[in-house]
Parts: sequence; structure tokens; C-alpha cells
Amino acid sequence: MRLSTRSRYSIRALLDILMNGGGVRPVPLSKVAERQEVSEKYLEQLFIILKKAHIVKAARGVKGGYILAKRPEEIYLGDILRLTELDVTPVKCTECDRMDRCICKVCWDNLGKIITNFIDSITLSDINQMSITMDERKGPIEDLTTIELKEEIKRLKRERDAVILVHNYQRPEIQEIADYLGDSLALSRLASKLPQSIIVFCGVKFMAESAKVLSPEKTVLLPRLDAGCPMADMITAEELKEMKKEYPKAKVVCYVNTSADVKAESDICCTSANAVKAVKSLKSKRIIFVPDKNLANYVAEQTKKEIISWHGYCYVHEFITLSDIKEQKRLHPDARVMVHPETRPEVVKVADYVLGTMGMVNLAKKSIIKEFIVGTEEGLVHRLGKENPGKKFYLPSRKPICSNMKKTHLEDLYYSLRDLKFKIEIDKTIIKKAKRALKKMIAIK
Ligand code: 13P
Ligand code: SF4
Repeated sequence: MRLSTRSRYSIRALLDILMNGGGVRPVPLSKVAERQEVSEKYLEQLFIILKKAHIVKAARGVKGGYILAKRPEEIYLGDILRLTELDVTPVKCTECDRMDRCICKVCWDNLGKIITNFIDSITLSDINQMSITMDERKGPIEDLTTIELKEEIKRLKRERDAVILVHNYQRPEIQEIADYLGDSLALSRLASKLPQSIIVFCGVKFMAESAKVLSPEKTVLLPRLDAGCPMADMITAEELKEMKKEYPKAKVVCYVNTSADVKAESDICCTSANAVKAVKSLKSKRIIFVPDKNLANYVAEQTKKEIISWHGYCYVHEFITLSDIKEQKRLHPDARVMVHPETRPEVVKVADYVLGTMGMVNLAKKSIIKEFIVGTEEGLVHRLGKENPGKKFYLPSRKPICSNMKKTHLEDLYYSLRDLKFKIEIDKTIIKKAKRALKKMIAIK
């Protein structure tokens, strides 16, 4: 088997679509081609094949593009290879006069079976996980040891009058160097109060944007400009405007996991920690809740309001399945289940606690319970384990990993402070409007 660029670009493009919201919304092929540095025409040819095989679906029109036709766990590497390569026979024994008696043929045949089993067991979801591990850096930059690198970060931070805010899902070494470690609500609140002139936000883009909206006079840095949130990209301000036209009397609650443009079109923002309170704080009976369909569903169950939801979702939480949780319950019968409200409704239903990340941190600390099954991104378990040495925390067998949250390494943080990059810039009118929605959220008691 010789693998060509056809399978390589098919895999990269499918992964790109997965990472850019293509689970629910069409991703334009032109954008994929741009990001993958390949011609759109070439991708078009590959996508005709993938479409015929029901791996992707096409959507026409201005909002056209491609969407995954199956869940990433159902898209197998073997199928992609068989579709895109001319010959996928793993190992071929060259003809010889002893074919029927040659032990090498038996070996090569067995090797072939192992390779076939391997490619038929790897899914797009597995490839996504592999890409995260691959992103591990080789080692500290410029001959610095990790300890020296950390010292340099601290020195630069003092010199520049900067503060480092870190979300609970970040890598352990980034969590360790935080001035403040927290959930999106706590970090948003802090951003508006801190005295430092520079905020370095180790998280994803919408978080750094929220900090900039709340403190426009400050320099807000996001060490990795490509650390986005696919769920936040699942709704645009234009789409929300259309929804508002459809339901003119409804008020809009938007999850902080949205762009500043979407926040600017909303009446109030919320995080997973205060979504129910945010909805209840509005007089209107009819509420547009964007973009997370799972959080919207949870909120609808906790309030008497009519919730009109959008079809966004977090791919990390969406892939935590009921059978995953049941399996963990079977393995750890004494453990209690705590899940993030971004998980699916059937998962939320079996959970003992439905909490945002800080809610989980607080529960683990205060409770007498010794074992927990944790239905959220794996980064939180580092913090939980460190702060509760006597307790045990179990993740679903397929670890939920947010690849965007894992993009920031110590090196990125170092360069961010050294070169003041990447600065978050937002249009002044958007800041003004988005600030109103964020401030209302912060005012909720
Ligand atoms: P928290 O608001 O609970 O910190 O979660 C943020 C997030 O991105 C969840 O996926
Ligand atoms: Fe977005 Fe999900 Fe990652 Fe949170 S965990 S940043 S919602 S993709």
C-alpha cells in the first residue's frame, strides 16, 4: 500500500471540518483549502467521492459547504483510504515459485490483517485525539530548561505589568503558572477588576475577547491566535439577527462561548454557572438561547420559560455518551457522577450533579464524597486531583479533550509576553454593545 496525497488531504480536510463546526453547520471548502494550503479544486474532487460514500453532506447556497454526514466515531480511516487510494492491499508478496510453501507469505498475510484491522479500528475522532498529542512541543526554546522558561515567564510578567488568567481546561504546566485559575465566569469577573495593564488569557478566543470587551483600555493577549472554540463559531451575528426577526418579542441570552459580535446582538450573556439565573432574570417568557442546544435544553428544564434554541454544541462534551458514563458507574459503583451542562440530555439525566467547572471544583472540595465520575474536559481533573489528594476522579474511557484548550504551551506564553502577541482587537461599537450584555451577566448575584 502506498499512500498518496489524496488520502492525506482527505483526512486533513475532514479533521478541519470537524474542528470548525462541521458537525452541525456547513464549512465552506474554500476555507478548508485555505487552512490546509491546498487548491479548492483538488479538494472538490475528493469531496465528490466522500459525499457519494455518505461521509460528508453538501449544502448549497451562500451558507454552503460541507458537513459531516456521520458522527466522527463512525468515520473509519480504513473507509477513507479505500475510497481515496487506488490500491489499499497492505502488503503484497511478489510472485515467486514457492508461493504455496513460503513462510514469508504467511507472515506478510498476517501483517496485512493486522494493518487492515488497525485502519478499520481508527476513527476520525481517534485521529483528532492523536493530533492533540502530536501538538506536544519538543522541548523548551532557546536552550532554556523548563524551570528557566518558567522563571523567564515570571520575569517578563513582572516587567510588563501583566497578569496571567488560565482556564480550568488548560495544560497542567499552564495551570501551575497561573495568577488566577478559574472558569469562564470567574475569569470574566476578574478581567474587569484587575489592576494590571496587560491580561494574558490562556484559554480560547471568546474568553480573551470577553476580557477585552470588559477592559477595552487594557492590552489583552491570547498566546495562540488559533485557539478558538468550535461551538462559538457555530453561530454568527447575522444568524442571530435572523432569529430575532423570527421571534421579535423574545429576549436573547447568549452563552459566553460566542464571538463579541454575537454578544453585541444579545440582551444578556451567561456562563454554564449562571445560565438558569440569567434566563430567570429576564421578564420575557420567550427566550432565544444560543448557541448550545444542550445547555439550552438544561435551562429549559430548570425554568418555566419557552426556550428557543440554536443547534450549536461542544464536540468535546457531545461525545461523552450515556454508555461511557454507565461503564464508569459499573467500574466505580461508589462514585458520584458530575457532568457539565454542555453534555447531552440523556447524560445530564443520569448525573448526580450538573455543574460548570468551578461548581465541580467547589463540590469536590466541600463534599464528603470520595470518588467522582467527571463528565467534562480532562484538564479539570488535573486541578481536582491536585486540590483533593485523598479523592479519586474518573473520566469517561474516551477522554474528553478540547484540542483548542490544549494549544497553549509554556513557549507560547513566553513569546506572548516577550512580543506582546496576539493582541485582541474589537471594533468600538461592538465593544459598547457586547459590554452591556456581559455587564448584565456579571451583575447577577
Ligand atoms: P466553564 O464556564 O464551566 O468554565 O466552561 C467553559 C467551557 O468552555 C466549557 O466547555
Ligand atoms: Fe469550546 Fe467545548 Fe472547547 Fe469549551 S470545551 S472551549 S465549549 S470546544
